[in-house]
Amino acid sequence: MASILVLNGPNLNLLGTRQPEIYGSVTLAMVEAACTDHAAKLGLEVACLQSNHEGALIDAVHDAKSRHQGIILNAGAYTHTSIALMDALISVEIPAVEVHLSNIYAREEFRHASYISKAVLGQVCGFGAQGYLLALDALAAHLKSAGAA
Ligand code: DQA
Repeated sequence: MASILVLNGPNLNLLGTRQPEIYGSVTLAMVEAACTDHAAKLGLEVACLQSNHEGALIDAVHDAKSRHQGIILNAGAYTHTSIALMDALISVEIPAVEVHLSNIYAREEFRHASYISKAVLGQVCGFGAQGYLLALDALAAHLKSAGAA
């Protein structure tokens, strides 16, 4: 069974209480449980990880090389700053989908640029927690068409 790493970056551990008018009232634990349920319906396994540290996120991407066939990544604010995380994703050559709860293009200008987008199959943003499930659908279809799931 193909395995997907659901990786969340800085401040996403605060989901549910962090600016709920922007990010919603769903907690990270709820997002991760929904991903696990949805993945099972798609015949996939998920492993979930969150870190507030750029290096830990990079290590998780490196470790994914031997463990996972796909990555769903919400890199939080590192989306807009981290060339290192982009390089890590490009280096491991694992199909990845970028997720943002909010529509980053409808917000401040500094959120419009994503280094992560240069290293992923595609991006889902603006659909709240549902975005993670849409990303799983996209990865499942991609892995199936690539003969990897
Ligand atoms: C975010 C958008 C980022 O700009 C922000 O820094 C986050 C969350 C989102 O999910 O909408 O931390 O990635």
